[in-house]
Amino acid sequence: MSRDSAARDLASASYQRCSETPGFFESFYRNFFQACPDAAPRFSKTDFARQNKLLRHAIGLLLIFPKQPDGEPTLLSRVAERHSRRDLDVPPSFYPPFVDSLIATVKQYDPAFSADVEAAWRRTVEKGVSYMISKYDSGAR
Ligand code: HEM
Repeated sequence: MSRDSAARDLASASYQRCSETPGFFESFYRNFFQACPDAAPRFSKTDFARQNKLLRHAIGLLLIFPKQPDGEPTLLSRVAERHSRRDLDVPPSFYPPFVDSLIATVKQYDPAFSADVEAAWRRTVEKGVSYMISKYDSGAR
């Protein structure tokens, strides 16, 4: 088994444990807004009941993204277009705190959290996050 797929399995199992625990997604946003106060006003009109469901799905996409073949469209094409300069306008600088807040929340909620679990998450989400950032300026359109 490659190191990438071992990391994906470890991160997915961790995500399973986290997403089964009530409060995970609420805590993520709390951590994210603390780490990145500039992001908070972007969510002033957000319906978090809906958003938490979308985030649950989106993190799942981030975790399987590296398994997908290269080439457009990707699993994240629509999400990346939505966050690009052309729509929600989420600049690249918001992504590192997003990832750090995700890790901080996993640390709080995953009873089996370890340095290996953290490394597996970082390694696995890196590809999707870089993809999102790469679409900020230059989209499919
Ligand atoms: C890889 C990281 C991210 C993923 C996978 C992700 C995923 C998503 C998804 C699936 C939606 C719903 C899209 C829709 O309604 O069409 C969304 C909405 C949104 N995202 Fe992200 N997101 C990410 C990072 C960020 C970051 C860093 C910010 C920074 C501010 C952000 C701000 C927003 C906002 C403001 C919305 C709209 C909320 C609303 O409808 O009120 N996202 N995101």
